[in-house]
Amino acid sequence: QSDGVAAKKNLPPAVPHTVPLLGNAVPYGMAPVEFLQDCMKKYGDCFTFIMMGRKMTFCLGPDGNHFVFNVKLANAIAEGAYDKLTVPVFGTEVVYDVQNAVFMEQKKFVKDALTTTAFKSYVPILTQEATDFFREWADEGSRFDLFPQMSELTIRTASHCLMGKEIREQLHSNVAKLYHDLDQGFQPINVFFKWLPLPAYFARDKAHKIMTDTFLKILENRRAKSDFDNKDVLQSLMDSEYRDGSKMSDQAIAHMMIAALMAGQHTSSTTVSWVIFELANNPHVIVDLLKEQAEVLTGDATTPPHQLPALSYDALRNLPLLEAVLKETLRLHPPIHTVMRLVVKDIEYKGYTIPAGHFLCGSQAVSQMDPVRFPNPKKFDPTRFLNSDEGNGEWTINGVDIAQKSARSNFLPFGAGRHRCIGEAFAYVQIKTIIALFLREFEVDLMRDAKGERIFPAMDYTSLIVMPKKPAYIQYKRRKEFRK
Ligand code: HEM
Repeated sequence: QSDGVAAKKNLPPAVPHTVPLLGNAVPYGMAPVEFLQDCMKKYGDCFTFIMMGRKMTFCLGPDGNHFVFNVKLANAIAEGAYDKLTVPVFGTEVVYDVQNAVFMEQKKFVKDALTTTAFKSYVPILTQEATDFFREWADEGSRFDLFPQMSELTIRTASHCLMGKEIREQLHSNVAKLYHDLDQGFQPINVFFKWLPLPAYFARDKAHKIMTDTFLKILENRRAKSDFDNKDVLQSLMDSEYRDGSKMSDQAIAHMMIAALMAGQHTSSTTVSWVIFELANNPHVIVDLLKEQAEVLTGDATTPPHQLPALSYDALRNLPLLEAVLKETLRLHPPIHTVMRLVVKDIEYKGYTIPAGHFLCGSQAVSQMDPVRFPNPKKFDPTRFLNSDEGNGEWTINGVDIAQKSARSNFLPFGAGRHRCIGEAFAYVQIKTIIALFLREFEVDLMRDAKGERIFPAMDYTSLIVMPKKPAYIQYKRRKEFRK
């Protein structure tokens, strides 16, 4: 239905702009949280603005989260908002290239591989990967660009655990470069200029083809060698059947693997980096985290870091402060700050009509900075999450219906409802292992300015996932007991 018809109805307030078409793309693109907070003050928690000719209607706060994450499929769809960006990167037959009901089944196939038994087997792998990786660093570093390092580590750990041993074996040769080329195609700008003959798009398409062929070859080899005992996502996709008894095509399996790799990579690596920046800015929390590890793993809070025993999945689940640090970091730096759906049928919200053709948007980044729910919201204070179940989303797995029980919450870094993240539990295991081991081995600090003040990196909103603005340095020193 066009806005012409809807104009007779009560549309949400419109945020003014001066440049037609471009609209408010610049203030939103540069500092989305501040821009949305400012709009909320002026227009309330539901308003519309123009961005590159698109009408973006935001519903903010816990009510807005609930509405956006639980909107009915008949009214608004994620694929209408995300397909232009994701289909060229992930490929066809999966995710936003298929009906949502099919994608829900594909999500379940991935989730089926992410079991407690699998996680238990991942912790030693994650430990080995992180330990080997830290060995490659010099004993001391200053002006150390943290994010690219953490990206490298995450691609090693995630590919080793999820993608399959064959991919991890090939990582040094080409997978990291392929990932980089695919990633170049994953910029918000591509939604608007997908017809441009940019070199980045050719590189993306070439990388997509090589990556797909790599997975196809692995599938062929596994079948030829009857190598079916793998506990990875790839195997789960190979073994699973849709409800109608059909299986995913090999092409679709390959594309789903690319999608899982892309979904987990920047989200996890940026979170690991932000945890380290926040801790470097709050050294007293590092002291408490090391005490917590010592207490839980040895029963003696004074056990020094180099004498701590190996981590296990059960031990990681028993470190409440570490968990709280992770949640507080995700509150302040959610990798995905806005979620979007395309409205396909007019919908009513708080007395307004949101017409078909609008993009319906929610922002966890805004609700997570709500001063009523989180007093002094800019302060890093992990104790907010101690003794709290907030953010421990319960899953209702009813057939293929995967959804969080309630989404009327301020804290939703992994989303909610049918599009909720399936990688949360893996991300927690991965990030906790990396951080716990990093803190044992290194002392860390932020760089200082001329006045001796710590320099905390700014947030970079220009790419799809919020990252630390480059260059984002730390300084670190390996503890003497760990020195090479
Ligand atoms: C969905 C965040 C890691 C796979 C989502 C959504 C969010 C999110 C906010 C909802 C998007 C929406 O509603 O539009 C995160 C964060 C992560 C993380 C913060 C790490 C710190 C991962 C990992 C994987 C993954 C490791 C893969 C193993 C997915 C998938 C979806 C999803 C498949 C479903 C998309 C949909 O249904 O439309 N994630 N994610 N994520 N995530 Fe994650």
